[in-house]
Formats: sequence, C-alpha cells, structure tokens
Amino acid sequence: MLDIKALFKLCYGVCIVSSKKDAKFNGCIVSTVFQLTPEPPTVAVSVNTDCLTHECISESGFFTVSILSQAAAKSFIGWWGFRSGRDVDKFAKVKYKIGQTGIPIILDNTVAFLETEVDRAIELGSHTLFIARILACGTLDDYTEPMTYSYYRDIKHGRTPKTAATYVKEKSQSRLEKEAEL
Ligand SMILES: Cc1cc2nc3c(=O)[nH]c(=O)nc-3n(C[C@H](O)[C@H](O)[C@H](O)COP(=O)(O)O)c2cc1C
Repeated sequence: MLDIKALFKLCYGVCIVSSKKDAKFNGCIVSTVFQLTPEPPTVAVSVNTDCLTHECISESGFFTVSILSQAAAKSFIGWWGFRSGRDVDKFAKVKYKIGQTGIPIILDNTVAFLETEVDRAIELGSHTLFIARILACGTLDDYTEPMTYSYYRDIKHGRTPKTAATYVKEKSQSRLEKEAEL
C-alpha cells in the first residue's frame, strides 16, 4: 500500500531561502527547513538543483531563512515560489535588509530569520540537502503565527510546484481510496 496522503500529515513551515550569486540576490519558497542539532545550532534545507537559488547557495556558501507569517498572501508566495529569479528580479518588489553574512533578510511577512553558512551539501539527485550552521538569528514579529505548509495548502488553498521537495503528485480521489483499501 502506498497511501500518498500520509505525507500530508507531516508538518512543515513555509520560508523564503535567500542567497546570492556574484552581486545578484535571489531566493525562493521552501517548506523543508528544519533544525538538526541545538549545539552548534544547525539547520538543513532541501533545494531543487534546477532552482537559481540552488546555484546561489552552492556558489556563495551562505543562505538566509526568512520564516513567513500566516498573513503572507498567496500572491506573495507565488512570486517567490512559482517564478524563477532567472526571469524576474524577485527583490525588486520587496522590503529587505542585508544581514551580517551579506545575504538579504526579507522584511515583508517575516516573523523570524536565520543567517547561516553551509557546512556540507548532500546530493540527492533532483535536490541537494544543504546542512548549515546558524551564525545569527532574530525575531521580527512575536504576535503573528508562522505559516505552516498545511495552513498554506488547506486554509489558503495554495498549490505547490513540482520542484518542491514536498511535492506530492495527487491521484484521483477514487484511485487513492481504492489503494487505501488494499
Ligand atoms: C509551498 C511551496 C513550497 C516549496 N518548497 C520547496 C522546497 O522545499 N525546495 C525547493 O527546492 N523548492 C521548493 N518550492 C519551489 C521553489 O520555490 C520554486 O521552484 C521557485 O520558483 C524557485 O525559484 P528560483 O529559480 O528563483 O530559485 C516550493 C514552492 C512552494 C510554493
């Protein structure tokens, strides 16, 4: 039995991971940032090898995580998660500040941020798992709830592109129900 709906029960946040290549900043939506160890404080993120953000992180060795709030509009998530920095300048439309690693922190819709340096990268085929040390972090909004992936999907009715690490190819309901009976 492969009841693919089981994967929807896993909990994730929705963040923008930003980085830079030469002088150009770029970033994209990810739902796969998670903490690995408390000391040293270490996180990981899974990024698709086709994304410009992947190129930026691989080249600079740094990325910043802007943890989004529930208030982030679907259009805002679409701008970062369905467009590529190869076609548009994603930073043209957003408020940001440069962090201590030289990578921008998004200020719009962000509740907290992490500034990280990549420690190692594990190639997984379609994606790379970047494991990184947190060099600095801070809270920008203590009052608004962070966005979870299930809130984005179920409450905001947001979609996810195939490049996302958490993409689930949904089958027809009847097929899922049929498989669940097996
Ligand atoms: C809700 C959501 C979650 C996503 N999660 C990831 C992820 O964990 N890893 C990833 O590589 N892409 C993820 N994506 C897809 C990227 O954001 C998307 O491919 C983006 O257009 C890449 O932009 P870039 O080429 O400018 O880097 C997600 C998108 C959405 C909308």
